[in-house]
This record gives sequence, C-alpha cells and structure tokens, in this order.
Amino acid sequence: MAGLFDKQAEVYVDARPRYPSEWYSMLAGRTHHHTLAWDVGTGNGQAAIGVSNLLFSFFYLAYLRPRTQNICVLDVLSIDQDHLNWHHKLIIFKVAEYYEQVIGTDVSEAQLKHAMSHPRVRYIHTPLSISDDELVLLLGGEGSVDLVTAAEAVHWFDLPNFYSIVTRLLRKPGGILAVWGYNDSAISPAIDSALKRFRETTLPFRDPNIRNLFDGYRTLPFPFESVGLGSEGEPLLLDMPMELSFDGLLRMLMSSSAVATAKDRGVELLSEGVVKELESAWGGRSLIRNVIYKAFMLVGKPKL
Ligand SMILES: C[S@@+](CC[C@H](N)C(=O)[O-])C[C@H]1O[C@@H](n2cnc3c(N)ncnc32)[C@H](O)[C@@H]1O
Repeated sequence: MAGLFDKQAEVYVDARPRYPSEWYSMLAGRTHHHTLAWDVGTGNGQAAIGVSNLLFSFFYLAYLRPRTQNICVLDVLSIDQDHLNWHHKLIIFKVAEYYEQVIGTDVSEAQLKHAMSHPRVRYIHTPLSISDDELVLLLGGEGSVDLVTAAEAVHWFDLPNFYSIVTRLLRKPGGILAVWGYNDSAISPAIDSALKRFRETTLPFRDPNIRNLFDGYRTLPFPFESVGLGSEGEPLLLDMPMELSFDGLLRMLMSSSAVATAKDRGVELLSEGVVKELESAWGGRSLIRNVIYKAFMLVGKPKL
C-alpha cells in the first residue's frame, strides 16, 4: 500500500521489533540452497537484517568473521528498542543462518532511506509501476531465489500478483515463501486492556487490508504446499518475547498506519490524555517491561 508508511518512516526504524533468530534458523533449514533471499515490504530491513547482542558481535567481528566465508544475512534481536540507535551504527551479524545475499524491496522510498545497512543486504525501491517481468529480472530471473520473506507486510499486497511472482522466482525444488505478522501483545491485564481501548479508537482509520492481520492470517489465501510451518487457514502461532520501555511502546503505536492516517485527517489518536492513561497502566515511564508480541506465520513451497 504505497504511501501509508512514508510519514512514520523515521520513527518506524526504532519502533518496530526485529524477529527471533530461531525463526531464521528454522527457515534456513527448510531451503535447499542459501544463495539469495528476497525480503519484500522490507520497511527498514527489520526482517532482512538484525543485530545480535554486543558481546557476541565483538566476538564475531574479532574472532569468527575472519574465520568464516559464510555471511549471515538474516538475523534478529529482541532487545529494548531504546538501545537500537547506536546498534544501528555497527555492522553486526551472527553466524547462525546463512544466505549469501538478501535483496530487500519496498514501494516506500522513505522507509528505505532509513533502512539498516549490511554488506550483504541490498535495498531496492520497487514502485508499484514496476512490471512483473522487471521485478523478476531485478531479482535475478526465474528460479533464482531460495527464500522469500514478507514480514508484517503481505496483507498490503495484491496477493494473486505477488504469489505469481513468488512462484516464478523460487528455485524449484527447495525454495520457500514465509509470511508472518503480529497484531497483539501480552504485557499485563491493565496494559492489555488499555491497549485494547486504544486499538478500538484506531478502527475508523484502518485500511480494509488490515483485516487479514487482525485475523491472524487465518483467512489469508495462501496457495502454497505446507512445509510443516503453518498452512492456509492454520498459521503457526509464535511468541516474540522482548523487553520494552514505555517510550518504545509509544513509538510502536506512533508507527501505525492508522495513527498516521488519523493525523492526516486532523485527529490525534495519541492525545495527552491517552498517553497518560497508557502510562499509568504501564506503571511509570521509566519501567522496562517484558512484552510478548503474538505472531503468526505461514510457510510454503510452490505447488508443482
Ligand atoms: C508494516 S511495514 C513492515 C516492514 C518490515 N517488513 C517489518 O517487519 O517491520 C509494511 C511495508 O510494506 C511495504 N509495502 C506495502 N505494499 C507493498 C508492495 N506492494 N510492494 C512492496 N512493499 C510494499 C510498505 O511500504 C511498508 O514498508
């Protein structure tokens, strides 16, 4: 959905969670080759790149990197988002999952401007006007991709068109498509109900495409053969645990497309009163809380 993620692009990079590294090992274990991954709707590269904990990073940069030719391209973290600014400035990677190259594409140039850099991740702006053939060529041609990921993004796409491009791109046999999203969190009963009330105020400003996300991808068409990680109608349910500050929570809410749409229409959903209510449910601004984002995933290979 072009345009919906432009205005909040700057806050997005610090606001949105990365994804647990086990997910990537799980996916890398399902593809036969590890040459090229395409992360579509990449945003700031949340799923295309990640950072590990600092100790590991130094260990990796100083010790492991000189000793390995394989480069990790997909990795994630679950740390307090407040610590991310300076992390972004480091080029850090873990050694668990390996693809030689990742291409991250997005219709939003603004999102890509804030994308996190990594020597093996290339970001390409793909406006909606690009033809299917051009896109396939840009990604190396038919049968060139081992893994396609769409994180918190597939519900925005023209699905029949996207699935047809994916089917052309995936190396067969052995290539897979993984789509996932998250729409809810579990923090504490008081915060969960304050967030529920806040979410209800966003409804008039939601794009109809969001219904698949709210539905946990249970009704998302997914015409791919299951590889044991969710299937059409039965997504795999996953938890994303992380630590979050109150400011991190506010950034997360500010990064929502509904909040941006409301602002465009002159409505401030995160008014002073709403922030105060959330803060009081949170238990104070300085508190760091354990949060579990509730995620769902569908993974499949093209039907032959
Ligand atoms: C909610 S963001 C997700 C970003 C990131 N993948 C993440 O996990 O946080 C959705 C992204 O999909 C992009 N997008 C929407 N429609 C698209 C399309 N047809 N092709 C490529 N990207 C698209 C938006 O610009 C936005 O950056």
